[in-house]
Amino acid sequence: MLRVVVMVSGGGTNLQAIIDAVDNGKITNTEIVGVISNNAGAYALERAAKHNIPALCISPKKYENRDAFNDALLEETKKFKPDLIVLAGFLVAIPPKMVQEYPEKIINIHPSLIPSFCGKGFYGLKVHEGALARGVKVTGATVHFVDEGTDTGRIILQKPVMIDKDDTPEILQKRVMEQAEWIILPEAINMIANNKL
Ligand code: GRF
Repeated sequence: MLRVVVMVSGGGTNLQAIIDAVDNGKITNTEIVGVISNNAGAYALERAAKHNIPALCISPKKYENRDAFNDALLEETKKFKPDLIVLAGFLVAIPPKMVQEYPEKIINIHPSLIPSFCGKGFYGLKVHEGALARGVKVTGATVHFVDEGTDTGRIILQKPVMIDKDDTPEILQKRVMEQAEWIILPEAINMIANNKL
């Protein structure tokens, strides 16, 4: 049984897609053992609570410096004894010592077709603003392993999404989530849980 910890910062729609996929059998051999957020107000924490998944907030504001926060994040994560850590809209940079502790055991969902519109400064709506500003006709989402860079780890899955001429960043974000993120993130977890990578 793959023990999965999901890290979140916001609405938690990707977390919900994972929860639903475990419930409906699209993900097998998997247990979501914990949810960790850096944001006490993240609705994702409500989603975890509704599903009786242990959830906690580790807020950088509560620590005197980034190193202390990084140490706490790693220590609390280790308590769950995860086989896989899933970054689902998690907006905190994973500290190198955590990547070293979990080599090829941390995955991330990014809302573009990496290597486009990724790296420093490309998160949330900014990704879709970049795609619209460049005028690309196709975007999508990527699931990749997390290494010590930003969105630079080995790519696991990608799914394309067409851009419409009247798209706003918000409309595009929703389409990429619905047609790509919420599909390939559960699929990637299921592949890892069943040694299908
Ligand atoms: C969204 O911008 C999504 O594209 C990205 O993280 C943000 C929040 O997603 N992956 P979620 O609703 O918290 O899963």
